[in-house]
Amino acid sequence: MAAPSAQSRRLRLGILISGRGSNMKAILDATADPDFPAEVVCVIANNPEAGGLRLAAEAGIQPLVIDHRDFPSRQAFEDALHTALVDADVELVCLAGFMRLLDAEFVNRWRDKIINIHPSLLPAYRGLRTHERVIADGVRFTGATVHFVRPEMDAGPIIVQAAVPIAPDDTPETLARRVLHFEHQIYVAAVRMIAEGRVRVVGERVVIDGAAPPEGGLINPLPFAGAE
Ligand code: GRF
Repeated sequence: MAAPSAQSRRLRLGILISGRGSNMKAILDATADPDFPAEVVCVIANNPEAGGLRLAAEAGIQPLVIDHRDFPSRQAFEDALHTALVDADVELVCLAGFMRLLDAEFVNRWRDKIINIHPSLLPAYRGLRTHERVIADGVRFTGATVHFVRPEMDAGPIIVQAAVPIAPDDTPETLARRVLHFEHQIYVAAVRMIAEGRVRVVGERVVIDGAAPPEGGLINPLPFAGAE
């Protein structure tokens, strides 16, 4: 007889995607371990061309397509999304490259039960083309943020961030690749901590039980080549 899994009750995740789905894939890979405290019960794409649809199917999840263009209004589209999530008994909604703005009504129905990943150190660089904009501004660090979703775009209590130094020869593409590597790590970390019941929203800040900040800091650029 198989040994019982350490985790008997797994948090039920619904993932919303619009495109490539690499963050979704990172979550699917993590949840493939039966000891991970969450499981993916539904994947929904608003775009029938989303590359992530194939990745979900390969991971054994039959994804749903709910195409916003099939609905007469945003409200009707969001009602369909909501119904699909409720039908699947979803407990936490993960936006993973989901490119539709969601109305306050939908977001408030899922308050503190819907999270997003954004490729910048929020609240800096909300919106699109973050890598292009950080390079143009000459800032030395960028990164990625997982946060609870609020009705305002790319806003809400921050759960985890990763800081990524920007190199002088970075292009938006090279930077996007390095940031994406950390996106995958922090999205899985955020889901794990929420599923473990360690994450609380207090006021509009997140408190995480049993989490310690790393020591030290980073300087970019180092004063001379080879300096530490
Ligand atoms: C990621 O950079 C994410 O931060 C942003 O959209 C991109 C989606 O990539 N919200 P993927 O579909 O997860 O590969």
